[in-house]
Amino acid sequence: MKTKLEEIKLAAKAALDAEDCDTEQVRIQYLGKKGELTALLRSMGSLSPEERPIIGQLANEVRTYIEEAIAQKKSEEGAKALEKKLIEERIDVTLPSKKPSVGTRHPLAITQRKLENIFQTMGFDIVHGPEVEYDYYNFKALNIPENHPARDTQDTFYITDNILLRSQTSPVQARVMEKQKPPIRIISPGRVYRSDAVDATHSPMFHQLEGLVIDKNITMSDLKGTLDTFAKTMFGEETNVRFRPHHFPFTEPSAEVDVSCFVCKGKGCRLCKGEGWIEILGAGMVHPNVLRICGIDPEEYSGFAFGMGIERIVMIKYGIDDMRYLYENDVRFLKQFS
Ligand code: DAH
Repeated sequence: MKTKLEEIKLAAKAALDAEDCDTEQVRIQYLGKKGELTALLRSMGSLSPEERPIIGQLANEVRTYIEEAIAQKKSEEGAKALEKKLIEERIDVTLPSKKPSVGTRHPLAITQRKLENIFQTMGFDIVHGPEVEYDYYNFKALNIPENHPARDTQDTFYITDNILLRSQTSPVQARVMEKQKPPIRIISPGRVYRSDAVDATHSPMFHQLEGLVIDKNITMSDLKGTLDTFAKTMFGEETNVRFRPHHFPFTEPSAEVDVSCFVCKGKGCRLCKGEGWIEILGAGMVHPNVLRICGIDPEEYSGFAFGMGIERIVMIKYGIDDMRYLYENDVRFLKQFS
């Protein structure tokens, strides 16, 4: 039995040393329930009482020997597997990383900032008014009569009889004049709403920028000078400004203001539709009625106001011929303005 134990020990060792050794299989073969060593131990009952402890001790030694050899083998295999995995899954940390995709500012936001900047440079403050507005500020305080077509429910989104979505940024004029003593020099950009169907040049929501200056001795030449500076900064040094007579209820006199086409320099092209001029805003001298309604004495103060559509400025400046591009959020379009 002693020789048998020695044989088992050597055989197990040889099996573990073999090139294609399956360690678990070796464990089952020698130490498993039906393993060779286990079988031998079972037959120990046939030994004499003197032999039993000697063989027993030897058998335990062989078992411990095999167990340790297997544990050693398994730990070697584990280390090898880990090393293989590390090599296979190696990451080259020096490779350039994936660039995070960074958004760009919307052309409307870019243009609004630019407009704000131009007027801030001229000393204008930026103020904001509510988009949900009283009929009073949107119409009445601006000298717009009860029967004016702009008041029609067809054009304006009414919330109640006297609350609506503002159809222009002009109500901010009245709000500022009510609160602030002249001198006043403000611009007010923001959203406005009109009940218009969507097409290439219309949207039920769009943006305007309002301007208002009130002080002593403000004249039409101040308005012209201001808009001339604005146009040259926005569209280029060679840009000229033209005033055409017009009517707005809140200004007198009123004008529609054009800039000379900065693409063809006035010769006539696709952008200016052959005119050489592009209409960009409405303006005028603040109507005495408006000043009075807002608590400012028209004998003492005068002022000018203007209002422009920001979408229109964006479209002219970037040569965009359909307003819907500005609201569709197509990244291919928006990326071009980074
Ligand atoms: N509120 C006008 C509109 O929506 C634009 C406008 C014209 C504003 C003349 C003004 C102005 O302040 O003086 O069409």
